[in-house]
Amino acid sequence: MSEEVHPRNRLNELCNRQWLIETKSFWRSADVAALPEWLDADLLEQFSLWLGETQGQERAEAMMGQLVSSVMESKAPPRDKLKATHPATFSERDIERLIRLFTKSGQIVLDPFAGTGSTLLAAATSDRIGIGIELIEEWLEVARQRLEAASVSARVAEATDVLTHAEMGAQVLIHADARSAMEGLPEGSVDFIVTSPPYWNILRKKGEKVAQERTGKGLPTHYSESEHDLGNIESYEEFLTELGDIFGECGRVLRERGYMCVIVSDFRHGKQFHLYHADVANVIEQSHPDLQLKGLTVLVQDSKGLYPLGIPYAFVSNIHHQYVLIFQRM
Ligand SMILES: C[S@@+](CC[C@H](N)C(=O)[O-])C[C@H]1O[C@@H](n2cnc3c(N)ncnc32)[C@H](O)[C@@H]1O
Repeated sequence: MSEEVHPRNRLNELCNRQWLIETKSFWRSADVAALPEWLDADLLEQFSLWLGETQGQERAEAMMGQLVSSVMESKAPPRDKLKATHPATFSERDIERLIRLFTKSGQIVLDPFAGTGSTLLAAATSDRIGIGIELIEEWLEVARQRLEAASVSARVAEATDVLTHAEMGAQVLIHADARSAMEGLPEGSVDFIVTSPPYWNILRKKGEKVAQERTGKGLPTHYSESEHDLGNIESYEEFLTELGDIFGECGRVLRERGYMCVIVSDFRHGKQFHLYHADVANVIEQSHPDLQLKGLTVLVQDSKGLYPLGIPYAFVSNIHHQYVLIFQRM
């Protein structure tokens, strides 16, 4: 397959071979894709050359692929300290991969639940413009500081001014409730949306192992006490309705043929296992007549800790994957 970007490719800057790889229905989360320090790029290159000489290029590539993937699975890179203060973030590298698949350089990427600014950092590294909306000042400040630490030009702006800043090449943060901020963005003004919404009020569940560990370290276990925080809504149905309103607005601001990726995981609440990814997919399809589900990619998270949940009395699964729900505005 050609290594050139196909002249009729209007979506991204990938050659057909790279695009093909990205269509595989599962990805290993880049959280686990860090090479250990001893296995640096030079060593890999030397090893690869030696393999090529002794084994032939094709066999060498297959062996390298196996070696790298088995090493990659072993360890997650540590999250930076600022990012780790937030209880539910995603990996910049996974988001960068999505951004490179669904946009071209210079295009605009929106995250209506920006948290610590992971999407904006990923947009900056991929030479795209990120717009992030975040309700809670503490997380907005973490995002701002992380962008500053990475020497990324960023501004905090009102929704109505956002495109002016974006045109000047800055990453833009909006401190607001996504429900109102989205109304300030013009129709069809965004090329791609990638986000991870709150998981209802599940972070407030008492006794959850990860929450216990975070409490032990003095870290927050939920986003905020704000009544506008979607993660504080009591009823699951009401929560899904509010989420639907925001995704309806996403459908309006996304350009025609543009894509939206929503990253979610299923969860347990009491005795009930919620197929959250299915509920969110249904809500989104109903939220805007032109948003259509195009596929699901499973994001395998091998680096998460395994807990002996339920053992030896009952089966309780360790949820070690997320879903990337992929929609297109038709
Ligand atoms: C799953 S987290 C996103 C984390 C982000 N992906 C990251 O890597 O840092 C969801 C975020 O939505 C924010 N949020 C909750 N309700 C909101 C609302 N009404 N408008 C905007 N943001 C909201 C929370 O404060 C939280 O930071």
